Amino acid sequence: MTETSSPITPQQIIDHLWAARSAMALAAGIEHEVFTHVANGERTAVDIAKAAKASKRGMEPLLDALVALQYLTKKGNQYGLAPVSEMFLVKSKPTYMGAFAQETALNWEAWGKLAEVVKTGKPVVAVDAEKFGKEFFPKLVAAIFPMSYSGASFVAQSLTAKQRSKITAILDVAAGSAAWSLPFAQAIPAAQITVVDYPEVTPIARQFVEKFGLTERYNYREGNLRHIQFGRNQYDLVLLGHIIHSEGEKWGAKLIKKSADALREGGLLLIADMIPNDQRSGPVLPLVFGLNMLLHTAEGSVFTMKQYKEWLKAAGFKKIWTVAAPGPSPIILASK
Ligand SMILES: C[S@@+](CC[C@H](N)C(=O)[O-])C[C@H]1O[C@@H](n2cnc3c(N)ncnc32)[C@H](O)[C@@H]1O
Repeated sequence: MTETSSPITPQQIIDHLWAARSAMALAAGIEHEVFTHVANGERTAVDIAKAAKASKRGMEPLLDALVALQYLTKKGNQYGLAPVSEMFLVKSKPTYMGAFAQETALNWEAWGKLAEVVKTGKPVVAVDAEKFGKEFFPKLVAAIFPMSYSGASFVAQSLTAKQRSKITAILDVAAGSAAWSLPFAQAIPAAQITVVDYPEVTPIARQFVEKFGLTERYNYREGNLRHIQFGRNQYDLVLLGHIIHSEGEKWGAKLIKKSADALREGGLLLIADMIPNDQRSGPVLPLVFGLNMLLHTAEGSVFTMKQYKEWLKAAGFKKIWTVAAPGPSPIILASK
């Protein structure tokens, strides 16, 4: 050890092994709508527990842990909201992100089996197979809506008026809740949107589309995206939001090629995904998400920008660039 280097301590190990428990404390707070109850004026552990129909014995340590995690404040026996909770964890707010906690809950059991899955290389459930995907995705897509919608809104707003004026037909592939197309539909009133997803998932897209008052502008192609034809030269914008990671290498490349063929000359492809650096050494989120793909798919993974560029060039895209939108990774845009 040199004189200037800091001592090696086990703190990193302690922090990482406890991090999952902090995540569950936050998820439990969201599930009990603690932040909404505080926003509604309940301030003490007794009153918050009553509003949540929970025990005081259970609620008090949960509230204190959420104070330590900086989601709540505490003065005497009075709890208050930290700014981040006020903005994103109060149910009545349009920016509410509570549904996102369901993603953690949905994946929690599988994560408990990670060591076993690493040993066997076999997923807990392969959602890239139609049979399991149809069961899994209806439980997931509403939960990830806030993350997808904020990234999509940023990109839709960043398009110039000239770019928007060229977009009249949009294909939202693996649309889920339609989170990726809704901001474009809002920003471009002339555009018609076609959703592709399983018939078990399109009812969720329809609900979101109706909530946004855009029902007339949407149509639906239900089925397996691997077999549905997208056509040729039909769309000005194709959206691939969080689908290539579960499709994996072979089907992901095919999906990019099929999307390229479906685009008109000058059309735009958008890919939103988890993208690690080319050495696959960071950032943390995409690489930890790679383990999520190990747990939940037979062939899924996370792919580097280098890999995406190879697929995009092979599919005929000439211009490839990224937008630093809010979300786990930059968003890829490509035009032919
Ligand atoms: C991770 S979700 C992404 C949803 C949405 N694009 C977003 O980013 O919020 C993946 C979506 O792809 C759909 N999907 C996955 N495999 C599919 C397949 N083979 N055919 C049709 N849809 C599929 C799922 O039903 C789900 O809606």
